Formats: sequence, structure tokens, C-alpha cells
Amino acid sequence: MSIERVGVIGGGLMGSGIVEVNARAGLDVVLVEVSDEAAKSAHDRIVASLERAADRGKISPQDLAAALERISVTDDLERLADRQLVVEAASEVEQVKLDLFRRVGRILIDEDAILTSNTSSIPIVKLGAVSGRADHVMGVHFFNPAPVMKLVELIPSLTTAPTTMDRMRAYVTDGLGKEPIEATDRAGFVVNSLLVPYLLSAIRMYEAGYASAADIDRGMVLGCGHPMGPLALSDLIGLDTIRAIGISMYDEFKEPLYSPPPLLDRMVDAGLLGKKSGHGFYPYG
Ligand code: CAA
Ligand code: NAD
Repeated sequence: MSIERVGVIGGGLMGSGIVEVNARAGLDVVLVEVSDEAAKSAHDRIVASLERAADRGKISPQDLAAALERISVTDDLERLADRQLVVEAASEVEQVKLDLFRRVGRILIDEDAILTSNTSSIPIVKLGAVSGRADHVMGVHFFNPAPVMKLVELIPSLTTAPTTMDRMRAYVTDGLGKEPIEATDRAGFVVNSLLVPYLLSAIRMYEAGYASAADIDRGMVLGCGHPMGPLALSDLIGLDTIRAIGISMYDEFKEPLYSPPPLLDRMVDAGLLGKKSGHGFYPYG
């Protein structure tokens, strides 16, 4: 049974991109945010992104209109009741996710419905344990910006049923046209286990005064061919999210390289969260 009705929880950077990807793939999507106002701003972000894609000739005006028809937004979690798949993309805060999994696990009507998290680092097994349907819970980790990045990490936990994994692989490949890799349920999975210590090292380097932010970034763009430097990428991801991922990874492995440096803590405390707040290592107009 293929997946046609999807729910997304959280319409921030990732959730709004995930909604766009699903709607462009022809799936019906309900997006749930914390308030009516947050739901409306998520919808505005999705519309703006789809309009940009249409302006660049990537989708036709008809496809743009059809994609928008497939999206509804709400602040009511109960609207997820008829979904075949829910992708939770709320903030990277364990208590928030545990609460959502506890509630949504009981809201879903279809006993075959799958409940997933886009978490970067929180153990999937814990989310399954509170959901009342642990065999139908796993991680599905999209990359930022979701409409552009091809990769999706699929993370079954110790309690995920093999059929859940099979259905999610089909959804990612045949449904969305993305490329999956499978990772075990360890904080950071594959990509963040490699990426996050690199980003935190760049922040430490900047904090220690090795070079300017621009020169650290130019070093990695021009010297290693990366599409963007580590500090600009940190701003794109969100400094609060990187900090939360570093903390989860440090909690799990006690590896000093995963521990957030003081400058990152101070920037998050100051509300300098990167592109999404208008200022991080760089200002954004
Ligand atoms: N939404 C939709 N499309 C977007 C977009 C967005 N937010 N940002 C860029 N694009 C599209 C553009 O429309 C453009 O498409 P076309 O070429 O088809 O017209 C294409 O992406 C390139 O965009 P730009 O020309 O504006 O800019 P660019 O060439 O500098 O690329 C980038 C921007 C795609 C972000 C590129 O710099 C890049 O790949 N950066 C690295 C991103 C990365 O590493 N992401 C992973 C982060 S880690 C993560 O996600 C996991 C985690 O848990 C933290
Ligand atoms: P974000 O801060 O941009 O957005 C989070 C959204 O979740 C906010 O709009 C917030 O209002 C909403 N939210 C919080 N609690 C909620 C609740 N109880 N119900 C509904 N909505 C709620 O964060 P983001 O960058 O989109 O990250 C979301 C998730 O995706 C995190 O788990 C993060 O680790 C993961 N992730 C992030 C990136 C990235 O590059 N930023 C990449 C891959 C995965």
C-alpha cells in the first residue's frame, strides 16, 4: 500500500521544505504547527519557495497551483488522525519530541500508519517507546535545504519492524525520488557524526582567533571545493540546532569534539541563531 496522505509536524526550516517535497511529489500533506500564526508563516515560506521554483522554470504554473492545493496547515494535532505517514520535524528538543510521539501515536487511526522523526540526533528507540506503536516508528532524516538535497537517512531502531523500513524505503525512492542510506540508531547517524565535529571545530577555530569567519569559509570553499564554508553552513542549519545536536552526540559518546564550544552557547543565548534569526556568524538582510 503506497503512501498518499502525509502529516508533517513543525513548519520551520526543515518542516516547510519537507512539506514542499511531498506536495511536489503529488502527496496530500497536512502541516501542524504550534499556533495559527506559526502555521500561517510556515505556509508563507512554502508558497514563497514554490514561487521561486516556478520563477526559475523548475515547475510549471499548473504544478505550482496543484502542489498548493495538496497542502493544508493547522495548529490542531488531531488533524493527523487519517494520515498514513507522519514526519515529525519540530525543534531538536527531546521533551518536545517525546510529548509529540506520545500524543500522535494515539491519534493515528490506521494501525499501519508510520510515525517518523526528522531528528538529527535524538535516539529513535526512545520516541518509539512512548508512541504505543514502536514497530511503526523510525527515523527519516532529510537534509537542508530539503527541496535540493538528494539524501535521506533511514534509521530503524531496535524495535522497528522490517516492513516499516521497506515501506519507508519505497516512499523515499519511488514516492519522493530521493536517495536513501541506512544508518543505525546512534546519535548523529552517518552524516552528522562526520559533519558536526567539523562544524564545531570551525567555530572553535574562529573563537580562538585563527582567522576571520570569511577566511575560514573561503579556505574550505576554495581549498576543498565545498559548496559553502563551515560557518556559513552553520548559519544555514541554525546555531540552536547545531548546539542541540552536539549536546546529544556528546551525551552519547563523551567525545570532546562533539561538545559545543562556549562561543556557540553564547551566540544561542544571544538569539544569534544564523540565517533564520537574521544574524549568526554573518548578518542576513
Ligand atoms: N529551497 C529550495 N531550493 C533552494 C533553496 C531552498 N532553501 N536554496 C537553494 N535552492 C536551489 C536554488 O533554487 C538553485 O536551484 P537551480 O540551480 O536548479 O536553479 C540551487 O538550489 C542552487 O541555489 P543558489 O544558486 O541560490 O545557491 P548555491 O549554488 O550557493 O546553492 C546550496 C545553495 C544548495 C544551499 C549549496 O550552497 C549547498 O549545497 N550547500 C551545502 C548544504 C549542506 O551541506 N546541507 C546539509 C546540511 S546538514 C543537514 O541538513 C543535517 C542536519 O541534521 C543538520
Ligand atoms: P526550526 O527551529 O527551523 O523549526 C522548528 C519548528 O518546530 C518551529 O517552527 C516550531 O514552531 C515548531 N515546533 C516546536 N514544537 C512544536 C510542536 N510541539 N508542535 C508543532 N510544531 C512545533 O528547526 P529545523 O531546523 O526545521 O529543525 C527541525 C528538526 O529537523 C530538528 O529535529 C532538527 O534536528 C532536524 N534537522 C534540521 C536540519 C537543519 O539543517 N536545520 C537538517 C536536518 C534535520
